[in-house]
Amino acid sequence: MKKHFVCLFVLSALLLTGCGKATDPQEAQMNAFVDRLMAQMTLEEKLGQLNLPVTGDIVTGQARESNVAEDIRNGRVGGLFNLKGADAIREVQRIAVEESRLGIPLIFGMDVIHGYETVFPIPLALACTWDMSAVERSAQIAACEATADGISWTFSPMVDICHDGRWGRISEGSGEDPYLGSRIAEAMVRGYQGESLADPTTMMACVKHFALYGLVEAGREYNNVYPDDYHMFNEYMQPYKAAVDAGAGSVMAAFNTVHGVPSTGNKWLLNDLLRQQWGFKGFVVSDYCGLEQLQDHGVCTTREEASIQCLEAGLDMDMVSNGLNGTLAQAVREGRCSVKDVNIACRRILEAKYKLGLFEDPYRYCDAGRREQVMLSDEHRAEARRIASESMVLLKNDKDVLPLKKKGTIALIGPLANTRPNMSGTWAVAAVPERYKTIKEGLEDALKASGARLLYAKGANICYDAELEARVTMFGREMRDARPAETMRAEALRIARQADVIIASMGEPSEMSGECSSMVNIEMPDAQQDLLVELAKLGKPIVLVHFAGRPTVLNWETEHLPAILEAWFGGSETADAVADILFGEVNPSGRLCVQLPRHVGQYPFSYRQMRTSRVNPDGEYHKFLSCYADVSNWPLYPFGYGLSYTTFAYGPVSLSDSVMVLNGQVTARVTVTNTGSRKGTEVVQWYIGDRVAKGVRPYKELRGFERITLEPGESREIAWTINADRLGYFEPAGLTWTLEPGEVEIMVGCNAADTQMTLLTVR
Ligand code: NOJ
Repeated sequence: MKKHFVCLFVLSALLLTGCGKATDPQEAQMNAFVDRLMAQMTLEEKLGQLNLPVTGDIVTGQARESNVAEDIRNGRVGGLFNLKGADAIREVQRIAVEESRLGIPLIFGMDVIHGYETVFPIPLALACTWDMSAVERSAQIAACEATADGISWTFSPMVDICHDGRWGRISEGSGEDPYLGSRIAEAMVRGYQGESLADPTTMMACVKHFALYGLVEAGREYNNVYPDDYHMFNEYMQPYKAAVDAGAGSVMAAFNTVHGVPSTGNKWLLNDLLRQQWGFKGFVVSDYCGLEQLQDHGVCTTREEASIQCLEAGLDMDMVSNGLNGTLAQAVREGRCSVKDVNIACRRILEAKYKLGLFEDPYRYCDAGRREQVMLSDEHRAEARRIASESMVLLKNDKDVLPLKKKGTIALIGPLANTRPNMSGTWAVAAVPERYKTIKEGLEDALKASGARLLYAKGANICYDAELEARVTMFGREMRDARPAETMRAEALRIARQADVIIASMGEPSEMSGECSSMVNIEMPDAQQDLLVELAKLGKPIVLVHFAGRPTVLNWETEHLPAILEAWFGGSETADAVADILFGEVNPSGRLCVQLPRHVGQYPFSYRQMRTSRVNPDGEYHKFLSCYADVSNWPLYPFGYGLSYTTFAYGPVSLSDSVMVLNGQVTARVTVTNTGSRKGTEVVQWYIGDRVAKGVRPYKELRGFERITLEPGESREIAWTINADRLGYFEPAGLTWTLEPGEVEIMVGCNAADTQMTLLTVR
């Protein structure tokens, strides 16, 4: 009899005996099952469940050749990551189920962070949709495809709020705002996990990086963070909490320290806050080698000490360090580590596997037949194309250069115009670039049968420095052209001269952002900048299709080019989505989830500026006010900003009552009208500004938004309910959610810098 059938037998036996303390019958069944299983496990087998090695490659052979297969047989592995393919995973799972003593199935994880083979926009771009159903749908499709490839656990969503565009991993998060970030965190968890984890088309989410990773000092990867408690709770912690409240099954500890203690071994963080205060019931995994890095942090000297500290702190699974599994058996026997802690962690891992249905059927995610039906299906691609076009932000469109007409001669120029692997964006682990289009191909398809002529030249490398280019085009993104810069530029100018309009497809390659891609220069790379300057001299309209995985500095481009589309990286369907927008099949609706700076020296900054002494009301230079002598305080493009091919007008904002009692409720209303001639989508944004509170509050905080689509001439009244939940904050002393009497500004508008205000008195 196969081992999992034994498990099933155990499960039904326990059902009959009615063991377990939980009142929820399903939970009682699970508890009883885990009790019984753990009663049979040796200490080593329990520690094995806490071990998450990497396969190193995506083929089964790898696991066989290394110790991993042997470790699995010996019950010393709880899960694996970076292995994909239903057959490959079935084969490894078979070793666990049929060749280990207790036949406990493995959990298979992967960084499925913005889609699988159907790739969605990078998370930063996805956040610019402000469309929670799109965000949820993208996660649902990612889960549907990843589970068809054997994966049941994703290391996503990453919900680290970030105020610093230098940090390459800003690309993996939802930008700068805790309210928007929290809504996205919930939507992602809902999308991945669905109604039930046992559904073989859903997978377990892992919220990362807990906590505060987005605060890395100077935007430098793997650096320290220094939050104060006030901001920790009012900004950075909120999306983690939202994801936990949405039911995320697991959490990944961050590399960084919090309050001077590495997150991976931080009891206050993993136990007191996450579990006791927030009620998190799932398991915590370390980040890659995060456990052994406690030694680098200098808080302990051996892997065993690190393991003891992490386990006691509340870490349950150890990614790659092999510390919990590798060092704790002896520590327990010699009394340096409590077996109780081992049991707790082991139970949490087994519970996760139980919830995923792996005991019932260890191969439930290994149905190779599903791959054919779902992977890169027409339906998934259509959704990805729609969502990609929603994520792109139209920054500038003077004299309605866009949408372009499908006629005449169009010159497509730039190093990102004809590169296939870069389109999906950073860290798309299952991307199949050969099945995606380049921008050139997307435009060619769009122009088919139109009579318009498309000319193409690369025009420049990413940058002059070949070494830098090699660093930011790794993982198969290489595209260095050996020709001299002058030759490439001359070719581009030659075709540009023949054109009526120029599309410049330029910016960052996809690996210029992402893990370990911090940059201090976030302007257009030099070779491309020089090319743009020469192209602009021709006096023809230029549309910049800008690629980036971070907010960048676009001063020159804004000053000299009539149209800029921030395309970010839209995933597998980027090319079609860009064509849809450029030729007006889709009316752009993306809104920035991070403001774009005027200078890298403004970082860290966010629209959520706290009330300060010596405030500078206009952002310009005033001696002895808070400002720079050489650059404005304001961003170049504000948070929430984005243009459409139509225009919207806001009527006056009104309140159902100008006074609200503390536990009362008031409704704000505004009427929005599409004043242009095309159907379009507006994101109505509600901000608040609490004028007087015990804890200093920001001038503006996003607390609500609604995406609405209006026909030309159509008006719609938008209502927004205001109550203490919407207006409150964590006051610094008690860290309790508070609202105090006083005046609160209620603001509504199309971005953080363009709002109208009315006053609400809270009594
Ligand atoms: C390190 C990254 O920080 C984390 O986000 C990722 O999930 C792991 N590597 C696994 O790839």
